[in-house]
Amino acid sequence: MAYLFCAWQYLDLHVLKVATCPGFRRQGLAQRLMESAEAFVAREGGETVTLEVRQSNTGAQAFYLNMGYHTVGVRPGYYADGEDGLVMTKMFTNSKALYDESSR
Ligand SMILES: CC(C)(COP(=O)(O)OP(=O)(O)OC[C@H]1O[C@@H](n2cnc3c(N)ncnc32)[C@H](O)[C@@H]1OP(=O)(O)O)[C@@H](O)C(=O)NCCC(=O)NCCS
Repeated sequence: MAYLFCAWQYLDLHVLKVATCPGFRRQGLAQRLMESAEAFVAREGGETVTLEVRQSNTGAQAFYLNMGYHTVGVRPGYYADGEDGLVMTKMFTNSKALYDESSR
C-alpha cells in the first residue's frame, strides 16, 4: 500500500522514493513511514533527512512541509525530463542526545 526507499550516508538519511497507492492516500501511511525513518536517524545520532522533489509536485511538497521539512535549494534539471528538483531537508542536530533523553 505504501513504501519508502532511503539511503544512509554518513549522518544523512536520503529519501530516494516514498509513495502510497492512490486508493490509500491521506490515511497517514506515508507519514508513518517517514516517522519510522526519522526514528532511525534519531537512534543513530544522525543529523539530517534530505530528499529531492519535483518542482511541480505540490502535493508531495505539502506533505513534507507538514512533516517539518524546509526547502534549502534547487537542483536544475535534476529529473530525466529536465524538470528541476527542490532539495528539502529536516535537521536532527544532537538527535542522539535527544533520543537518549526521551528513552529514559
Ligand atoms: C506524497 C504522498 C507520498 C503522501 O502519501 P500519503 O500516505 O497520502 O500521506 P499521509 O496520509 O501520510 O499525509 C500526511 C499529511 O501530509 C499532508 N499531505 C499529504 N498529501 C498531501 C497532498 N496531496 N496535498 C496537501 N497535503 C498533503 C496532509 O497534511 C496530510 O494530513 P491530512 O490527510 O490529515 O491532511 C502521496 O501523495 C504519493 O504517493 N504521491 C505520489 C508519489 C510522490 O509524489 N512521492 C513523493 C516523491 S518525492
